[in-house]
Amino acid sequence: MCGIVGYLGNRDAFPILIKGLKRLEYRGYDSAGIGLIAPSGSLNIYKKTGKVNQLEAYVANQNTAAHIGIGHSRWATHGIPSDSNAHPHTSESGRLAMVHNGIIENYAALKSELLARGHHFASETDSEVLIHLIEEIQQNEGCSLAEAVRLSLSQIIGAYAIVLINKANPTEMVAARKGSPLVIGVGENEFFIGSDASPLIEYTKNVIYLNDLEVAHITQGQLNIKSIDNNVRTPKIQELELKLEAIEKGGYDYFMSKEIHEQPRSIKDCMRGRIYPEQGLVTLGGLKEYSEKLKQAERLVFVACGTSWHAALVGEYLIEDFARTSVEVEYASEFRYRNPIIGEKDIVIAISQSGETADTLAAMTLAKERGATVLGICNVVGSSIPRLSDAGIYTHAGPEIGVASTKAFTAQVTVLTLFALYLSQLKGTLKQGKLIELLTELDHIPELVERCLQLDAGTRFIAEEIKNSRNCIFLGRGTGFPIALEGALKLKEISYIHAEGYPAAEMKHGPIALIDEDMPVVVIATKNSSYDKVISNIQEVKARKGKVIAIVTEGDEEVRKLADFVLEIPNADDTFLPLLASIPLQLLSYHTALLRGCNVDQPRNLAKSVTVE
Ligand code: M6R
Repeated sequence: MCGIVGYLGNRDAFPILIKGLKRLEYRGYDSAGIGLIAPSGSLNIYKKTGKVNQLEAYVANQNTAAHIGIGHSRWATHGIPSDSNAHPHTSESGRLAMVHNGIIENYAALKSELLARGHHFASETDSEVLIHLIEEIQQNEGCSLAEAVRLSLSQIIGAYAIVLINKANPTEMVAARKGSPLVIGVGENEFFIGSDASPLIEYTKNVIYLNDLEVAHITQGQLNIKSIDNNVRTPKIQELELKLEAIEKGGYDYFMSKEIHEQPRSIKDCMRGRIYPEQGLVTLGGLKEYSEKLKQAERLVFVACGTSWHAALVGEYLIEDFARTSVEVEYASEFRYRNPIIGEKDIVIAISQSGETADTLAAMTLAKERGATVLGICNVVGSSIPRLSDAGIYTHAGPEIGVASTKAFTAQVTVLTLFALYLSQLKGTLKQGKLIELLTELDHIPELVERCLQLDAGTRFIAEEIKNSRNCIFLGRGTGFPIALEGALKLKEISYIHAEGYPAAEMKHGPIALIDEDMPVVVIATKNSSYDKVISNIQEVKARKGKVIAIVTEGDEEVRKLADFVLEIPNADDTFLPLLASIPLQLLSYHTALLRGCNVDQPRNLAKSVTVE
């Protein structure tokens, strides 16, 4: 939530900052701003409500000359989206400017103290309080800016990634983090800062991921890092593997469309080097050290949010079925405040695309404090969740920029399928022949996903039919249930049509009251063990004049006779239903949202990475 950028060097800072903000806009897009120190020494701040290109247009004829600057793309927490609440914020004297991603939880108390001491505030934000505090501490202590930042942060409760510039010293920048990500790109006598590596990728491959509770003091050609408790840290420079093409639209109109169509490749990347179908073997190198513990575990507890939580539910079905280990799936936000029964014998597995979700991180921290082993399933390499995990598995889906999760979800489901088979292999709960059979089929899933993508035109046609609906129900049984939940989440988050997912059999316990001729009901009705039961559920919907859109197995005739629309997916073992059935649901949401004129990549009120609780 919120994207921040910074630059210090010999280049023109403005284009680097604007381009960087555009790359980070998925993190928040209600307002944007930049702060530049001009060669004349003036600190020029430009802020605008709206997207980064509105800021760019606003700044067009202004003085943007600078070799140092910071920028911010906001997702509002404290104070409405407005020019004055946009970042950067300045200190009381106007000498310091700062961008912030996170939440200062104790800002109200700090603000009243600062007000009592004569400070004036120009915004309603929590962030502005911090920059006032920093300046006051610097003045009182007579210390360096980096030292003032370090001292101030010890008074802060909450989460932050901050970058500051100082009009009095145009060759210094200070950055710090706790709970919100920050990457520093190291060039030749120049430094780049970003909430992730995308703003720096074309300038340098050398990056430092700042750790929690660290303060970086950057001057031209020099970088020093200290911990908040005043210990000098040696910066660890890592080589970036990210490629520029991965974060560009590559000919697609929207990132979401690109990411949906990338799934045959992303699923393949996720399995690469991990499955050996002829031998019936799955290897998950990252978990090797924990194989005995996994084998002995009586239960696994998944913690996740949103789409990642749906992936965990798929994992629950597969792991319990194949490996016979009991699984609990928890919303990270509930788990962290519930005093859960967790101890040393437990294995807690966090699932996250971004690796930065605040609730998931807090749930992991709690599990660690209680002595549990904490594993991570994550997409973003080097993000906070893998760093907090004892061990884990990367999903290798590549950067996902569209706010609605698509390829990250199928990659999570792929990893969980591999994990279920891996665990069954460790425990000997599946016969070798069955493992060979399943892995052989899994190896071909990318080709079947490719065929599901051919449903693009069919889903566009159905989208025309449902685009004016106010509500929509999604039904499924078995692993079709989490897919129904995910289908509903996708539709509501990008098209703003109210949608709910239910286990098909639950419909008659309440939701059936909603069904009439205006209610589209999307049913996952593929040929599997619950097929006959789902047909009965479809009959119940039709008896109440609901409009049925059914996801069926290729060649199905029975559901076709009942449903208003059918979308055929290739025949496959039940295990792989989630990977295939998700595709038409993603396409359906995508086309419905486009027909309703919605911005599919940046739906209202949302942000890709939820770094606040
Ligand atoms: O990055 P994470 O997987 O931890 O994010 C969790 C949710 O915020 C996320 O899955 C969200 O629900 C998706 N954007 C929905 O498409």
